[in-house]
Amino acid sequence: MSKKSRLKIVAGNWKMNLHSNEALELVTGISNYLENNDLPDNCQAIVCPPSPYLFLVANSISEELDNKLSVGAQNCYTKASGAYTGEISPEMIQDIGCLYVLIGHSERRKYFGESHEFLAQKVNKALEVDLIPIFCCGEPLEIREAGTHVDYVSTQLKESLFHLDVDNFNRIILAYEPVWAIGTGKTASPEQAQEMHAAIREMLATQYGKETADSVTILYGGSCKPANAEELFSQPDVDGGLIGGASLKADSFTKLIEILNEVG
Ligand code: PGA
Repeated sequence: MSKKSRLKIVAGNWKMNLHSNEALELVTGISNYLENNDLPDNCQAIVCPPSPYLFLVANSISEELDNKLSVGAQNCYTKASGAYTGEISPEMIQDIGCLYVLIGHSERRKYFGESHEFLAQKVNKALEVDLIPIFCCGEPLEIREAGTHVDYVSTQLKESLFHLDVDNFNRIILAYEPVWAIGTGKTASPEQAQEMHAAIREMLATQYGKETADSVTILYGGSCKPANAEELFSQPDVDGGLIGGASLKADSFTKLIEILNEVG
């Protein structure tokens, strides 16, 4: 499968930002853009609001945009229900109309100590209820400087994803997010992004075969914004972006959708 036919995505990770009125304003701005601009069938946008606003945001999206704009959660737990104060289950996320869930974001790994094994359990549970995991991987600065970044990402994928059979793996979306580029204003160069995305496809080819490797959507994340998106999105193995800071304003987020549509 060529890049042209892979699913292309711009996903906004709002992190712990915005209040409810701002969240509504943002999703309305994105909806307006998508209602007035045709996107090809294999191109779509996702927003990942903070959990208190998931329902509100999911409910505000009109049915006509069902295939173009979807909602994802930023996290989920590994159980369906029970005495787990403060957690939200994949079932609940799915129940309120979300299609996606971020799993393995570096901020979850770093601040909440989420291990490879715990992330594997989240992936399993999400897939069980037909939520699509957007699985994040990426190396910290010291690993990049030591030159072992490909091995590091390979371990992240092996430990949390490679237990899946091929059919389940085919449902996953990947996001490569070098930790040193997240929220720092320091983006990976297009060459660095392409090198890792191509290396990830090689890992997938070895584990699952070439067809899977060619068809999986791999997003780039880390200080991606309208000013640098064109060169990143035009790389042959980059299928869009997972966007933090630049996803908090409708004009920059929709600009990224426009750029992906043009060059992706
Ligand atoms: P950033 O965040 O675009 O603000 O660097 C990306 C992310 O953490 O997903």
